Amino acid sequence: MENKPIKILSIETSCDETAAAVIEKKPKGVSILSNVVASQIDIHKKFGGVFPEYASRAHVEKIIPVVTEALGNTDPDIIAVTSGPGLIGSLLIGVNFAKTYAFVKNRPIIAGDHLTGHIYSNWAEKPYPQLPALILIVSGGHTGLVLMKSHKDIQPLGETLDDAVGEAFDKVAKLLDLGYPGGPAISKAGQNGNPKAYDFPRSMLERKDYDFSFSGLKTAVLYETRKIKKLTPKIKSDLAASFQQAIIDILIGKTIQAAYEFKPKSICLCGGVSANNELREQMKKAVSGLPWHPSFYKPHLELTTDNAAMIGIAAAYHLDQKTTFDKIHADANLKL
Ligand code: KG4
Ligand code: ZN
Repeated sequence: MENKPIKILSIETSCDETAAAVIEKKPKGVSILSNVVASQIDIHKKFGGVFPEYASRAHVEKIIPVVTEALGNTDPDIIAVTSGPGLIGSLLIGVNFAKTYAFVKNRPIIAGDHLTGHIYSNWAEKPYPQLPALILIVSGGHTGLVLMKSHKDIQPLGETLDDAVGEAFDKVAKLLDLGYPGGPAISKAGQNGNPKAYDFPRSMLERKDYDFSFSGLKTAVLYETRKIKKLTPKIKSDLAASFQQAIIDILIGKTIQAAYEFKPKSICLCGGVSANNELREQMKKAVSGLPWHPSFYKPHLELTTDNAAMIGIAAAYHLDQKTTFDKIHADANLKL
């Protein structure tokens, strides 16, 4: 670690949030100086999902005001930007803005991947998770378990073979006509529902690997709704609660299975779905039952969904990756 505090301007536009943040890195840790997110929920709501062309256009409109607000009077030492994975039209806006800014200001730049960013939302404040850490990433585009042995050794253990968890929430919410984004809508509808009303499948739990699958569960909800003549608010609540519980059982089952194999010192949640209160509470309880007592971490609510602070924090731990503006490019399929 260098001794002088370093200010990092980070930019994130991989999907439907235009986000910028300023992170200060000091020898003993990081702090978030600003964290600005312009959400596009209102634009995409009517489509029940992200409409890529509209997302790109909104990023073009928002990127300058959002970065200006995040910067205030700060003159950053380094620029960090999400270079993938994500929607290419969205990524290009953030990446090209960051490259241009780095070029004009003659600053180094760090290209980071979005999933590593989500992981580092757990490093926003002390105490930081102890390593090795087992991390469950649950977002709208990705679902997977990761073993982090050091800041240089982050290994994927498994991922979803079909839908991401957030995607399953969004699709089931659409099916039940609960609104967009689906995660918060299902969680709200499920609050008064009976999670045992419908016995939905907990797929993949019998397998020894760490891959996930949620499309069967989504289809099971679809078939159930077809059997029902009228979807009353009570039935919707029960369906939402039962679906949510099936998801939580799968996520906790796989995480605990991996925990017994790798015996991590910490277990962390991250990604948009980690905003789910039931998941946070039930995972905490499951982790507290592990005999070697690993610590449990979850990001602050505002750092669960897409934001730029997490990208800046990830960059703060990977300063050796700094390069010049001409060396980075957007990559929609970037792997962790
Ligand atoms: O991490 P994120 O902002 O974007 C991606 O990287 O994909 O995650 C967005 C996802 C959406 O699918 C949204 O429905 C889900 O996170 N989400 C939730 C909750 N809040 C957001 N899912 C379940 N419960 C929530 N409270
Ligand atoms: Zn994300």
